Amino acid sequence: MRIGILGAGGMADALGTQWARAGHALMVSGRDPGRAAATAATLTAAARAADAPHGLPATAGTFEEAAAFGDVVVVAVLEEAADQVVRAAGPALRGKPLIDVTNAVGPGAYDVTRSVAERIAALTGGHVVKAFNLCHVDVWRMTPPVFDGRPLAVPLCGDDDHALGLARTLVTDLGCTPVHGGGLDRAKLLEATAAFMIGLWISGADAQAVLPPLPHSGPHPDEP
Ligand SMILES: NC(=O)c1ccc[n+]([C@@H]2O[C@H](COP(=O)([O-])OP(=O)(O)OC[C@H]3O[C@@H](n4cnc5c(N)ncnc54)[C@H](OP(=O)(O)O)[C@@H]3O)[C@@H](O)[C@H]2O)c1
Repeated sequence: MRIGILGAGGMADALGTQWARAGHALMVSGRDPGRAAATAATLTAAARAADAPHGLPATAGTFEEAAAFGDVVVVAVLEEAADQVVRAAGPALRGKPLIDVTNAVGPGAYDVTRSVAERIAALTGGHVVKAFNLCHVDVWRMTPPVFDGRPLAVPLCGDDDHALGLARTLVTDLGCTPVHGGGLDRAKLLEATAAFMIGLWISGADAQAVLPPLPHSGPHPDEP
């Protein structure tokens, strides 16, 4: 798969490294060409060290070039820059599978009325899937992210079957398990969950402990 990444920071590096190792072709992009080139070089080195199946070097480009390059395009910039960056990426994003990993963080940054993912969909006309926003960047560097013997489950919210299929592949490439999180209208709940959990983690609470295991989650519709 050809993956364009809007962004060249920690998330672009962590996720891009995993996908380069899995044999995907990547282009990272940023407003600082030097940082984008450095991140691309890191991904290329990771692919070579892992003897990745296709051995393609990762490249660096502008936002517009990364948008045109990708079969799927990942939005991995700070939330406050997302509108400006997807506008700069231009019309290539129209109708394209997009994966939005952003979180609005900081006091008052989270908007309960509209998700960043829906905002990006409206601005671009792309098929947005919200994903990878629930865990810290270091989790996405784990090979694989497994806790207490269970692979990490990654919820996906989106409306387009093709985009969701690509997102599931990219989750599986990390050694994680994709979980259907509903349509794009539920991305605001996924973003709210991240905002809430980040608050707990910052306060030092064990956020994982707030949820019971499945047998204790109440009756299920398919149960007798
Ligand atoms: N870090 C985490 O643990 C984590 C986990 C889940 C989701 N996320 C989300 O993922 C996204 C990326 O996070 P990150 O950890 O990769 O952050 P990061 O390392 O700080 O990188 C941020 C990226 O956004 C770009 N950027 C910032 N302001 C910009 C602007 N005004 N115009 C254009 N580009 C701009 C930066 O470019 P420059 O290099 O030019 O500044 C850089 O490429 C954020 O929305 C974050 O909330 C982060």
